[in-house]
Amino acid sequence: MAYLQPDKEGKVYLPAIRAAKERGEKLVCLTAYDYPTARIVDEAGVDMILVGDSMGNVIHGYGNTIPVSLDEIISACIAVKRGTERAMVIADMPFGTYHVNEDDSVKNALRLMKYGGAEAVKLEGGRNRVELVKRLVNEEIPVVAHIGLTPQSVYKMGGYRVQGRTAEQAKLLIEDAKMLEDAGAFAIVLELVPREVAAMITAELEMSTIGIGAGLDCDIQVLVLHDLVGMTFGRQPRFVRQYASVRDVMTDAIHKWTADVKSGAYPSDQESYGLTDETKKEMSA
Ligand code: KIV
Repeated sequence: MAYLQPDKEGKVYLPAIRAAKERGEKLVCLTAYDYPTARIVDEAGVDMILVGDSMGNVIHGYGNTIPVSLDEIISACIAVKRGTERAMVIADMPFGTYHVNEDDSVKNALRLMKYGGAEAVKLEGGRNRVELVKRLVNEEIPVVAHIGLTPQSVYKMGGYRVQGRTAEQAKLLIEDAKMLEDAGAFAIVLELVPREVAAMITAELEMSTIGIGAGLDCDIQVLVLHDLVGMTFGRQPRFVRQYASVRDVMTDAIHKWTADVKSGAYPSDQESYGLTDETKKEMSA
């Protein structure tokens, strides 16, 4: 039997993430929820693609991540995986899929890998997830942890606010991060935490930190693609830097097409199909 090496040379797996931290090289991660955006993100050289439950806000219009289902993430993950050659594909475990018991959580994570094609899973929580992370890692499931602002706790937290601002809260976050590293997580999302806290966690831990609203010291930066390219509605948090206005580009194209349809300029002869002269003759006979 020959060992078939997984995918192409240069494909990002765990060792590449660890090696980048050791070299002090920053990596980038973006969300994607479908084939075309995954392809664009992957071809642009992004190292990790997160099939995030932010899809609840961004593409489903739910208003938060709570209603996102495992099937929605799996379906998105299948499409993202087809559009990705190099980046590591990470799937979010949605709310309710790792909260009941460890066996069901493992089954759900395995579904994300077996059917969705995910190469790692991400779940929210601190010390309360340590035993689960150990179990998942023991079952060969690479795990990304997520602390700080955990959007699945929005009702408990009462909103989206910076976490770890007091010395006591900051210490708890640092402890949580260490416990999750000891449990076997290979990376950890730090969302909306003071940059000093993120810097301490990044310096103290061997696992990679993935920052969003956590300052520039994190090993990896992640953003929601739709925020980065301007395909969202409403006020953006201060950490979002919008590099394009795809929504305006799309609106402009739609306006132009509508005007062409109304004026009769679309479709032109070149954009239409016709009968051959022979068929026309036969029809008029
Ligand atoms: O769901 C998501 O997109 C995330 C990122 C914001 C880290 O969890």
